[in-house]
Amino acid sequence: MNSSKPFHFAGHDTVALAQEYGTPLYVMSEDLIRQQCRSIREALLEKHPGSRAAYASKAYLSMAMCRIIESEGLCLDVVSGGELYTAREAGFPMERIILHGNNKSEEELTMAVEFGVGRVVVDHLEEINLLEALAAEKDRPMDIQIRIVPEVEGKTHRHIMTGQKDSKFGIPLVPEVIEKAVQSAMDSPHIKLKGFHFHLGSNLFQQEIYVEAIQRVMKLCHHLKQTLGYEAEEINAGGGYGIRYTEADQPQPPSWYTDAIMETVQKMAKELSLKQPNVIIEPGRWIAGEAGITLYTIGTIKEIPEVRTYVSVDGGLPDNIRPALYNARYDAVVANKADQPKTQTVTIAGKCCETGDILIYDLKTPPLERGDILAVLSTGAYGESMANNYNRLPRPATIMLKGEEVRVVNRRETYEDLLRREREADIS
Ligand code: LLP
Repeated sequence: MNSSKPFHFAGHDTVALAQEYGTPLYVMSEDLIRQQCRSIREALLEKHPGSRAAYASKAYLSMAMCRIIESEGLCLDVVSGGELYTAREAGFPMERIILHGNNKSEEELTMAVEFGVGRVVVDHLEEINLLEALAAEKDRPMDIQIRIVPEVEGKTHRHIMTGQKDSKFGIPLVPEVIEKAVQSAMDSPHIKLKGFHFHLGSNLFQQEIYVEAIQRVMKLCHHLKQTLGYEAEEINAGGGYGIRYTEADQPQPPSWYTDAIMETVQKMAKELSLKQPNVIIEPGRWIAGEAGITLYTIGTIKEIPEVRTYVSVDGGLPDNIRPALYNARYDAVVANKADQPKTQTVTIAGKCCETGDILIYDLKTPPLERGDILAVLSTGAYGESMANNYNRLPRPATIMLKGEEVRVVNRRETYEDLLRREREADIS
């Protein structure tokens, strides 16, 4: 395991981290997260007063992350009672929360009213009535956005496309349907309709679809002003900015997206004689993705002559379901052999009883042996947050690096953790 130059991530020797904290291990860098937040602020918030950026917490959420996002001055997008509860327990200011969901329960909406969240993004006409009733009960005013479907298709995996007509999210872009929703919000005394929301999909490397969607929403705003006298104060353009998983990806800075969005908003507002709405964005992956890696220990190595060599690691599908779910591609480095020439091509397999549990096909590596440490890159988004216990594998620990400091922000699950709910059920 000796190497003259182990792989370093955010200034830390990853081989030493694996030795100290065990594997599989999620490693997040607070410095990198803050750097991403900073460039979002520079791209949008500092250039355009009144604009806001909400980190989409589904990408990676912990109380530690809430505190980082809070101190960076961003808002937080949550999509369930669980995410909302986590934010509140972390002391995140509730007025900076945006609550999403295509099927929010009455319990979740009640939490939103009681906690006083900043925005509820209403996904369906019925939800306006339900929210009005709950807000009236507590006599609390609620600010909402209506999520619409702009009917714009992003080039991404089918499972993470959301802007197209055939979607479970949002209200279709049919003027009569939207008019009904807007009218209903205007008639609800406890509800204030602040504007509209759309989200086109995830891991997108296109600018033109944001432009297209904004044009459609601005035209809708114009129509609503004419028909109902309603003028939107804000447009939420969702998230979706793509990141680098492998060398094939060419990520853009956030300004590439936000400049196009802002230019279109300004231009359309002028053309249509509308008050310029404030813009909100909701990047998730772009903030957390490249700020995280996963460390594994290599175990069994199986060579099938003229077919492939399977190199198995001590995690897999339960800690990173993305390759199995979306054919997602990752790159990885053999951390203790980072300076050795890559002389072979192998397939990195997980340890689950599942043929599809392959993390990386055709990875170039130096010669490998049991005990080597593999660092899979860009796992900070939708890794830990989508983790599960398939095969009753305990979920890994998560450590957060900050300068030279290392904090365990989520301890490794134990076998007893796996039984806890069963044992508690026995007691009751
Ligand atoms: N806003 C809304 C309303 C969303 O639904 C999402 C993601 C985002 C913002 C953030 O999108 P991002 O900037 O992270 O692309 N599990 C999938 C991704 C699902 C994303 C769902 N919504 C994956 O691992 O690729």
